Amino acid sequence: MTKITGTDLADHLDALLEVDAFPPPESFAQAALWNDPAIYAEADADPEGWWDRHARALHWDEPWHTVLDWSDKPFAKWYLGGKINASYNCVDRHVEAGNGDRVAFYWRGEEGEERAITYAWLLEQVQRAANALTSLGVGPGDVVGIYLPMIPEVVVAMLACARIGAPHNVVFGGFAVEAVGERMAESEAKVLITVDGARRRGKTVPVKREIDHTLGTLPSMAHLLVVRHTGTECPMTAGRDVDWDQALAAADPLAPATPFDAEHPLFILYTSGSTAKPKGILHTTGGYLVGTAYTTKYLFDLHPETDVFWCSADVGWITGHSYIVYGPMLNGATSVMYEGAPDYPDRATWWSTVERYKVSIFYTAPTAIRACMSWGAEEPNKHDLSSLRLLGSVGEPINPKAWLWYHQIIGGGTCPVIDTWWQTETGQIMISPIPGITAAKPGCAMRALPGISAEVVDNAGNPIAEGQGLLVLRRPWPGMLRTLYKDPKRFVASYWSRFGPDTYVVGDAARLDADGDIWILGRTDDVINVAGHRLSTAEVESAIVSHPKVAEAAVVAKDDEITGQAIVAFVTPVEGTDTDAMDQEIRDHVAEHIGKLARPKRIIWTYDLPKTRSGKIMRRLLRDIAAGRELGDVTTLRDPAVTDRLRTLIADRRDSED
Ligand code: WTA
Repeated sequence: MTKITGTDLADHLDALLEVDAFPPPESFAQAALWNDPAIYAEADADPEGWWDRHARALHWDEPWHTVLDWSDKPFAKWYLGGKINASYNCVDRHVEAGNGDRVAFYWRGEEGEERAITYAWLLEQVQRAANALTSLGVGPGDVVGIYLPMIPEVVVAMLACARIGAPHNVVFGGFAVEAVGERMAESEAKVLITVDGARRRGKTVPVKREIDHTLGTLPSMAHLLVVRHTGTECPMTAGRDVDWDQALAAADPLAPATPFDAEHPLFILYTSGSTAKPKGILHTTGGYLVGTAYTTKYLFDLHPETDVFWCSADVGWITGHSYIVYGPMLNGATSVMYEGAPDYPDRATWWSTVERYKVSIFYTAPTAIRACMSWGAEEPNKHDLSSLRLLGSVGEPINPKAWLWYHQIIGGGTCPVIDTWWQTETGQIMISPIPGITAAKPGCAMRALPGISAEVVDNAGNPIAEGQGLLVLRRPWPGMLRTLYKDPKRFVASYWSRFGPDTYVVGDAARLDADGDIWILGRTDDVINVAGHRLSTAEVESAIVSHPKVAEAAVVAKDDEITGQAIVAFVTPVEGTDTDAMDQEIRDHVAEHIGKLARPKRIIWTYDLPKTRSGKIMRRLLRDIAAGRELGDVTTLRDPAVTDRLRTLIADRRDSED
């Protein structure tokens, strides 16, 4: 395709906005693993048979006798009686099949360094790391924390845990050490695998030294395993801290993969809910592996011998767990893993990476696409992106214009784009176009996958034929969360109580169009999605309120052109505080408690917040004020004058730059 830019490009995209749907190119459909729409009916006719069949793609040490036990709903059990080892399926199996030399990851560092990580190398490292963990006293069921940047060792660490049945609890490298401490304490982690330092845009963050400050509060934490990455000097406490390289070198190179029950916990991943306390999403082994292997193979139409797959997420989020580590590795894929940000060292980094490794399948978030779009088509146009054949999007609604830009500029107008909807809780992709079948509508997640049942319902839980409502999932699926770690009551209350124990309430609003296709509209609860990062308003509020000069805070989201949503904080200072230069102080304070990703973009200082007569903050009004919209019903307000005062305040405030 000729490369178009400037006004021509704008006109071209505007014209394409008129196009309803983009069917897959004929050549793609013909060669695709899935190209027959009959699969939907086939799966619907016998969902358990369908999931029985797809589980057979994995290696089981003992077969299951029951595909699904749903008798104690909403606590599902999948593949009962089956025994399986996750790390064996991700690594050993491919080496045994003669593919040890296949590259599992082309790793690219921030400064352009490269490593080609083969399946054979991983097999040795994973076994050594498994033995190192065992010698530190870790056994089946013991939680191991992982706080690492995007380096190959994070994969080794996760699979070593899986090998010995120790659930991993990975914390995103962008979270502050305080958030790491909270997640370690909640999960009673015994060991934390971390790093001397991490690189962020050319700077080095002394991760180990920072971690040391929080460890005093963690009585269950017996050891730290420290990977050397940046060479940053860090104190090592004798008897507690262990050098990763030394431990692996000293460990026996053979660690047999123990078969575990299908329902043995594989990992915990903390995510934000409606309250300040993060939810520990618990995934188990058999079902999660089936769900991720299945979706990676069929949705990404993965041909492991020829494709190069790149999911640009961080491994610390569910997208990284499912589509950097487990899904691709279960399929024996070759992936790319990039340490840095899309604009470091320059804005061409992603596209030079695609060109260099001949990436054929690329999966990223709408925020990144919008950022690239704002930088212009020049950078991608300078690179040869012709290796790409399929593009994916995840994490937030993608607006049609960004979809079209992705499709035209990155995909050259010839790659299908799949907008994949799912959650930390679902473990696997749930709603998405199928690239060899679906005529995808830009901005629309389309239909539930074969075997999955999604509906849009009204407030009473009745399915609607067309229009806006709540998104629900009607039947269990293999990759589903099994519970919230140590909090089964909250598990039931959060997801399975509103419409009874047969209906999983997602927390997203959706629109069903006249063709029966699903458009995801966004969250209905107090969860905000900033650049695809899930945060709870309560979590950010409690970080702000912990500042000594703050009396009260309310946080809402407002739409943002690049990040989808941005955080606006309404903050009441302690009487007599001079708030003039305090914005940065509050932002730094939030960064220290949660991480930079949670810093408010805008802070509005106010002595009053709009409250109901019973004292509840009216967030709906704050959202209207933040967006500069007409205010809705204010009759329940204790003091209606407050909103006028707030509105004048917001008018003369500007967003922070970063
Ligand atoms: C949102 C990320 C629109 C949604 C995998 C969901 C999306 C939340 C999409 C889960 C999409 C995810 N279109 N919205 N394709 N994918 N979301 O747990 O609000 O970090 O509930 O999982 O992200 O975020 P989480």
